[in-house]
Amino acid sequence: MAQLILDLRNEPKHRAYGTLHAHIANALAGVNDEIACMATIASLVQTSFGHLWTGFYRVVAPGLLRIGPYQGTMGCLEIGFGQGVCGMSAAERRTVVVSDVSRFAGHIACDARSRSEIVVPVFDASGSLIAVFDVDSTRLDQFDDEDKRGLEAIMTWFGNLPPRG
Ligand code: SME
Repeated sequence: MAQLILDLRNEPKHRAYGTLHAHIANALAGVNDEIACMATIASLVQTSFGHLWTGFYRVVAPGLLRIGPYQGTMGCLEIGFGQGVCGMSAAERRTVVVSDVSRFAGHIACDARSRSEIVVPVFDASGSLIAVFDVDSTRLDQFDDEDKRGLEAIMTWFGNLPPRG
């Protein structure tokens, strides 16, 4: 198993996401356990970029997200579709980038240090929404189209893995 600790903070983002995606695919080759995949992705994204909070909220019932594997301080346990940034992403089935969370009405502040965030929906091979992937930063305006493209590519890859146990 690779022991490399990735530090992508000083890389151009497009290259950083290419490296990160390859590292994740390598680390999870042959793994078909959904929780193991989510936990590993959350760890690698968080530690590679030094984010504040990184993790999954899973769709557990119609209109309901529940906390999944994550890195960071304690996240709220459940979020309804339409609530906060995660709930907007789930309800609208699209990536939401918030450059300043203090300007997002209804933002759910689990950690007061959060300044900006991106939430990416995760679809399975049939197109069903199975989760959202939430990344929070202490820096304003941390996330842009490069993050959107890079994280969406990783979530597309993850969502289309063979059936998971
Ligand atoms: N930022 C999220 C809430 C979850 S946490 O920050 C872990 C939101 O407003 O959707």
